[in-house]
Amino acid sequence: MVTLSQFSLEGQVALITGAGRGIGFAFARALSQAGAHVLINDLNEDTARAACAQLIAEGGQASPAVFDVTDFDKLDGIVDDLVATHGRLDILMNNAGILIRAPIEDHPMRDFCRVIDINLNAVYAMARACARPMKAQKRGRIINTGSVMSISSRPGVISYTASKHGVLGLTRGLAAELGPDNITVNAIGPGYILTEMNRHVLGTAFETSISDRTPMARWAAPEELGGTAVFLASDAASFVTGQILMVDGGLTSNSLLVESANLGASS
Ligand SMILES: NC(=O)c1ccc[n+]([C@@H]2O[C@H](COP(=O)([O-])OP(=O)(O)OC[C@H]3O[C@@H](n4cnc5c(N)ncnc54)[C@H](O)[C@@H]3O)[C@@H](O)[C@H]2O)c1
Repeated sequence: MVTLSQFSLEGQVALITGAGRGIGFAFARALSQAGAHVLINDLNEDTARAACAQLIAEGGQASPAVFDVTDFDKLDGIVDDLVATHGRLDILMNNAGILIRAPIEDHPMRDFCRVIDINLNAVYAMARACARPMKAQKRGRIINTGSVMSISSRPGVISYTASKHGVLGLTRGLAAELGPDNITVNAIGPGYILTEMNRHVLGTAFETSISDRTPMARWAAPEELGGTAVFLASDAASFVTGQILMVDGGLTSNSLLVESANLGASS
């Protein structure tokens, strides 16, 4: 029988990286509304505190967790401290990420490595740190933020594409290894979402071209990802693991939409 209580996260503790704004904040808000105590990670203390204040004002439980996810040597200790303070850790959302748009000649190794460190290496490091308390609890949920670029690409985003394909690989590898400990590992693949990461393309031909190629014919708001996060974090998804769930308005199922229309129905 399916009951609404299967979706409740009451009594659970969730750590969301890069949650001070954008998609991460929307994830944190959704998990908070489902009953979880959310630990808001971000680089900037004021940003993390402001995000917590907003969720607390809305009736939720939220605490800041200020650190850089690429401080790899410190992550085990940081997670241990969080578990000691909050008593448990049920859900990890690996969401912090950056995008550098540049053609190959303007994308030096330093930038490539920075993107891979934040978007991919930190996902492994955080999962590794959080798997220990989750194994001890014999239950856990790890949810990684992928992208449509986990399964596709376009020019100018080589490192981002490599990192997000890697996130899908990590999701499958971690799921295979952690399943016996009752830890599920999944990814969410957002399409084009209106956040700071994309603000500079608003009003450009690129913005319109994405809407033209998306069956839902528009970009999404971050809040439209929240329900998927709650589902994957909840008991309703107890046998879902190793998957990427695209929340992209149909973009990746229909990426040839414009070209096909131009070629006519016989193609
Ligand atoms: N916006 C989109 O259209 C879109 C689409 C697909 C996937 N994504 C992914 O969603 C995630 C969030 O993107 P967004 O659009 O909300 O971006 P954003 O830039 O609005 O927010 C990213 C947050 O991550 C934080 N962050 C960056 N580096 C960090 C670090 N080293 N340690 C801790 N926090 C760090 C930033 O301070 C910021 O608050 C990213 O992984 C991104 O790749 C975004």
